[in-house]
Amino acid sequence: MAFVTHQIVRTMSSVSAKKLLVQHVTVIGGGLMGSGIAQTAAATGHSVVLVDQTEDILAKSVKGIEDSLKRVAKKKFADKPEAAADFIKKTMSNIKTSTDPASVVHSTDLVIEAIIENMQAKHELFKTLDTFAPEQTIFASNTSSLSITEIANSTTRQDRFGGLHFFNPVPVMKLVEVVQTPMTSRKTFDALIDFSRAMGKQPVSCKDTPGFIVNRLLVPYMMEAIRLHEQGHGSKEDIDVAMKLGAGYPMGPFELVDYVGLDTTKFIIDGWHELEPNNPLFAPSEMLNKLVESGKLGKKTGEGFYKYN
Ligand code: 3HC
Repeated sequence: MAFVTHQIVRTMSSVSAKKLLVQHVTVIGGGLMGSGIAQTAAATGHSVVLVDQTEDILAKSVKGIEDSLKRVAKKKFADKPEAAADFIKKTMSNIKTSTDPASVVHSTDLVIEAIIENMQAKHELFKTLDTFAPEQTIFASNTSSLSITEIANSTTRQDRFGGLHFFNPVPVMKLVEVVQTPMTSRKTFDALIDFSRAMGKQPVSCKDTPGFIVNRLLVPYMMEAIRLHEQGHGSKEDIDVAMKLGAGYPMGPFELVDYVGLDTTKFIIDGWHELEPNNPLFAPSEMLNKLVESGKLGKKTGEGFYKYN
């Protein structure tokens, strides 16, 4: 027994001295972001388990991943259909699915959470995973607006906890915001940076502040566009054309809100407004609130500021 204990201590100390290499990833949440993260990790040779609540949701996620992979492959292997088919097959073989997160984290290097933006739901999830995941496993959240520190506080591994914020569509957007809290260890941060690079992404380092870098700039910009339109200063079509042709943005602000989701945008701005009620950049919009209330959440529901087929 003493020998076994000694062996375990030796193994763990050698693990803690080495750089952490992420090879096995568990992604929790099979929505657009979780699926995109799982797809990109698998396409870059990582072994991935994608987790969601039901087999039906997971079947939809897998279908979405296959469709997206076809688009990536068409572009990447334009004149080589065999290589494209091989790429899709290899990537899909790197993805497994599960409805039971606790049973799949026993051998994972990194858990990436991309579930609903609800602090309590995230706390419950991470609290459970904390008891099942190995000690060295890193936990990360893809939250776009909640505090990573607050999420990490539900675990006993605050030093092995960080933010990994991806952008939609994940297979296309090159950036990952790597968020460190005051408790995130250097080793964890380095592992998250290395993993982002291994996924073919460009990481940037962020502090745990509301919206990190991109959303802190992008969300007030989208809200200001809505306010401009609300106050009668421009049609949504003209504002979109203006920002695409005048500022070189790939989408106008209304197209982008529809793409991101009106509910997501409202959730972010409402949270910030609560934190800083006097900041005009964080003021809510009645027009946005009404659209969300009537279920017009953007592209995903067929209508937001625009209608979609
Ligand atoms: N999967 C794989 N490839 C995709 C894809 C997807 N879901 N979506 C687009 N692509 C690729 C394909 O290769 C496609 O080529 P294809 O036509 O042969 O399929 C190529 O991109 C071009 O796509 P489209 O012709 O459909 O359209 P665009 O040229 O307009 O590009 C876009 C689409 C990449 C989405 C571009 O409009 C864009 O960059 N928009 C801005 C997106 C953005 O700002 N995202 C960040 C949102 S904020 C966020 O996510 C943070 C969150 O916390 C709120």
